[in-house]
Amino acid sequence: MEAVFSAAGPLRGELAVPADKSISHRAAILGALAEGRTVARPFLRSEDCMSTLSCLRSIGVEWALSGDDLTVEGRGPQGWRQASGELDAGNSATTMRLLAGALAGRPFTSVITGDESLCKRPMGRIVEPLRRMGAEITGREDNTMPPLTVRGGGLTGIEYRMEVDSAQVKSAVLLAGLQAGGETRVVGGRSSRDHTERMLLLMGADLSFEGEDAMTMRASRLQAREIAIPGDISSAAFILAAAVLVPGSRLKLSGVGLNPTRAGFLSVLNTMGALVMESNYSETDNEPRGDLEVGGAQLNGIEVEGRHIPAMIDEVPLLAVLGCRARGETVVRGAGELRVKESDRISAVCGELAKMGAEITELPDGFVVHGPVGLQGARVDSRGDHRIAMALAVAALCAEGETVIDGWECVNISFPGFEDTLHDLTG
Ligand code: S3P
Repeated sequence: MEAVFSAAGPLRGELAVPADKSISHRAAILGALAEGRTVARPFLRSEDCMSTLSCLRSIGVEWALSGDDLTVEGRGPQGWRQASGELDAGNSATTMRLLAGALAGRPFTSVITGDESLCKRPMGRIVEPLRRMGAEITGREDNTMPPLTVRGGGLTGIEYRMEVDSAQVKSAVLLAGLQAGGETRVVGGRSSRDHTERMLLLMGADLSFEGEDAMTMRASRLQAREIAIPGDISSAAFILAAAVLVPGSRLKLSGVGLNPTRAGFLSVLNTMGALVMESNYSETDNEPRGDLEVGGAQLNGIEVEGRHIPAMIDEVPLLAVLGCRARGETVVRGAGELRVKESDRISAVCGELAKMGAEITELPDGFVVHGPVGLQGARVDSRGDHRIAMALAVAALCAEGETVIDGWECVNISFPGFEDTLHDLTG
């Protein structure tokens, strides 16, 4: 499916962005590991989160969706049953990695597979610690690629030093640690998103932190509860970027998650010269949220180093788009992880923006963009990656002429209705 965009008038109005995808996955999985009824609202009804729900149903977890309210009937990990077939995580690495961690604690066999993109993504990073804890896990390419076969149970806690700053790896180890004998100590990884840690604490897990760098998990029972899910700052980022780039825009986004491990993109916008105003700050169910207001701005280039990447990992493709319209050079380094996302996001964003006239150079772990350039409408390809599709749509809003984006349907992975939302805001 293709979508067509052209230069838009100013974005105006007020909007609540869709619910946070990462927190929605966790509410479903932790709700399924807890005892009692968890109600999470609003739950993100996107393809990725539906993949998590369908895997949970296959292992015997009962849940219901009524409007945007998800109810999970948790019976503890002991309530999970061996599925009769494969678990299909679709496009979602969060589903595959977090479920592999949780299933490592269950004494039966699970096969977790996914779509063509997910089956190319690295799994050795979770297989290695989960095997050390005692799970039997096999996969293609010397146990480093999906599909994964997990035979779990009888886990023992380990000390695990994080090799990649990944929330999915950290979460997999913690969810296994929840069911392991002894202590599971995770060292490092504290700059990646911490939604799992926050929700585990909310549900009563025995998780403690030591200084800036380490945490220890002990086997514990989770208590079901109601969970309010904030708006997804990664979805908000596309709308914010569009408003910043289209002159005369003025937008307010309400109830956006402002967890500091996710909010790096807001700092980047401010440094580049777009003033993002935060108001109505509050904290609900261990997650901060607030309203954001932003308008069109003249941007300056920026240099972003590796240590800042985890807090904006999914927004990096948007930085390339902003860089095209900013004065001077925008440089991103230390973002090699982008090469193993839903697509190779460095190659995708550089290749597709170049078709629109961007002056962008690929680096092994990032890119350099020279700006400002006048972007030209072109035929571009999402490469099956939702965040690339949306970043290209934002570029199209400030390009001359029409942009046709092939493979548009992937936006349903995280932001169903994105195209309508943009049209509504631009009148
Ligand atoms: C996610 C963690 C990040 C992020 C992904 C969602 C999560 O991946 O890119 O979109 O929900 O835990 P990594 O953990 O691989 O960095």
